Amino acid sequence: MSGQPQMPNDLDSFWMPFTASRWFKQNPRMIAAADGIHYTTVDGHRVIDGTGGLWCCNAGHNHPKIVEAIQTQAASLDFAHNFNQGHPVAFQAANRMVELTDHFDHIFFTNSGSEAVDTALKIALAYHQARGEGQRRMLVGRQKAYHGINFGGLSVGGIGLNKGQFGTLYPSTAHMRHTWLAENFFSRGQPEHGAYLAEDLQQICETYGGHAIAAVIVEPVIGAGGVLPPPQGYLERIRDICDQHGILMIMDEVITGFGRMGTAFGHQHFGIKPDLMTVAKGMTNATVPMGGVFATETIRQAFLNGPETMVDLFHGYTYSGHPLASAAAIATLDVYRDEGIFENAAQMASVWEDMLHGLKGAPGVIDIRNAGLLGAIQLEQNGAVGAAGRAAYEALWDKGLSVRPIGDSLAMSPPLTLTESQITEIGDLLASVLK
Ligand SMILES: Cc1ncc(COP(=O)(O)O)c(C=O)c1O
Repeated sequence: MSGQPQMPNDLDSFWMPFTASRWFKQNPRMIAAADGIHYTTVDGHRVIDGTGGLWCCNAGHNHPKIVEAIQTQAASLDFAHNFNQGHPVAFQAANRMVELTDHFDHIFFTNSGSEAVDTALKIALAYHQARGEGQRRMLVGRQKAYHGINFGGLSVGGIGLNKGQFGTLYPSTAHMRHTWLAENFFSRGQPEHGAYLAEDLQQICETYGGHAIAAVIVEPVIGAGGVLPPPQGYLERIRDICDQHGILMIMDEVITGFGRMGTAFGHQHFGIKPDLMTVAKGMTNATVPMGGVFATETIRQAFLNGPETMVDLFHGYTYSGHPLASAAAIATLDVYRDEGIFENAAQMASVWEDMLHGLKGAPGVIDIRNAGLLGAIQLEQNGAVGAAGRAAYEALWDKGLSVRPIGDSLAMSPPLTLTESQITEIGDLLASVLK
């Protein structure tokens, strides 16, 4: 195959992820190419990628330095595993990742955010067992949370539609309430009300016994559940309760990691230190699948008490630390550093916030939320749930902007390379449809 990709003749074989396939096929939006913040479809229609892929192309698309690093790596070492043997690029990638954090010392590589979450939950369970607290088996999540789609992540997740087809997966879970409150509508950044909702964790400790809980997992800013920044004081209180009961705090930074909040990681922005952190997406600028779990020295040490020939953690993936992903990760971190990508996100955050909140008052807009370079516009329900969101999504796509409809909210997470004039252009496109 060469030249511009064409619309395939048959769209039936590919069982698409999270897709209403019959609706998709009525008007397939088929992307052929990408550059910077734009996608081009097979029909030559150009759209601004307002979702940065799927919250992941932080440095924009097709960055030549990342492309080159992947090509070079593929030509020298295509694959070697890391089970009791290793290859340099995986260790180099791990060192670079750890250097980016203030207090994590180790990273376990996975291939996706879902695998990172399930790995983190398993590390939490095994950590307590290694310390003689094997009774800690409960995992706590929260409503509206998205932690991927594997068994553990789905169990602690809180989006009913994602869970309903599968029944109970991990048996011992509890969920805190979400923090989307009417009194916070149109808050700029962190809302004022809702820190009291962290007391749900205290209640769960009282109901089940804090000594029975292994870990609580939270996204610093709920992403796929509709972009919900944490109320002021909320994450701090979760941290306190975890400390009080010996519960590990896992921050799921699959979206907020790698600059989305204007800092390397979201927890740095919010000033909270989790015990474990999951990442993926922006780790390689989404070029090669990769995820990871960051762990503190204390956690890692608990796994090193057995005989020297004993495996530390009975867990791993064929592709953990894959050479192509590792090379892509190193090149991505170089680009983030050399091009000041995180600094640009920090600088653009207030321009982004002003643009979004400038849409207040547009017909049918009932809430607007933002954090770093994340945003969501909540539309009034009009007919079935999601109908208004889907209609706005379609109209915006036709005008040249891609957003992510989540029910009746329009979520956005643009590349972090965004300029002021591009933010204005996005604002104009949104206004032309919403107003
Ligand atoms: C917070 C969070 N965790 C986990 C995941 C799952 O990541 P993946 O789709 O790479 O499995 C996502 C994906 O959007 C996410 O937003």
